[in-house]
Amino acid sequence: MNIAIICAMSEELHAVQQQIKMPLISQIDKAGNKYYKYSNEKNTVVAVVSGIGKVNAAITTQILLDNFDVDYVLNVGVAGSVSKVLSFGDVVVAKDLVQHDFDITTFGYKLGQIARLDTFSFQADQWLSDLLLDGLTSEKGLKNHNISYGRIVSGDQFINDAEKAEFLYDEFNAIACEMEGAAVAQVCYLNKKPFAVVRALSDMAGQASDDASHSFERLKIMAADCAALAIKQLLERI
Ligand code: ADE
Repeated sequence: MNIAIICAMSEELHAVQQQIKMPLISQIDKAGNKYYKYSNEKNTVVAVVSGIGKVNAAITTQILLDNFDVDYVLNVGVAGSVSKVLSFGDVVVAKDLVQHDFDITTFGYKLGQIARLDTFSFQADQWLSDLLLDGLTSEKGLKNHNISYGRIVSGDQFINDAEKAEFLYDEFNAIACEMEGAAVAQVCYLNKKPFAVVRALSDMAGQASDDASHSFERLKIMAADCAALAIKQLLERI
């Protein structure tokens, strides 16, 4: 099976690379990013840092699909919590994703609806998401961390505002926010490619007096390690 892994930041990819126990067979440069290809007798993994934000994520996803014969796409990394019950180090596997900053409401559309697209949210692949959940909740998974399955929202904004976090929860029924997942999802949707998104929480997005920028800086490696553990477990299962 050919798996693509997209991380927004080098810290996230580094955590993932520590869990890929496969020989590195090539490094390919495209559009300013390095695509690391690993292979063993069972699987091939291509892992890349896309850069932060939806445009970077979309470019990288399309490059992966056009050049690497990918079967499944995974977006892995950290996120902010917009739930009141999920906290630092908890993990969210996306059920579906919405771009919370796509706004054509002036034409009568719901906030988040992509113009002229036949879906509101992008559904993650059930089989792949179930494998991630199974790995995370297994004996070798994450102990003492909440593992959740729900909606993730993405936008070109780092959320550090309790009111905005609450709005994202109320408006979209989202449990986590980040800046790439729904863009990866949109590209996969248009290419009819299955995908999954797994994110561990580095901050509270400004809720509960949390300064999200401080938490993010302090906890991003811890959270990236939690998300990467999901990849380790997944690779043992496929
Ligand atoms: N990634 C991690 N934390 C985030 C936040 N609070 N907002 C957007 N993206 C994030």
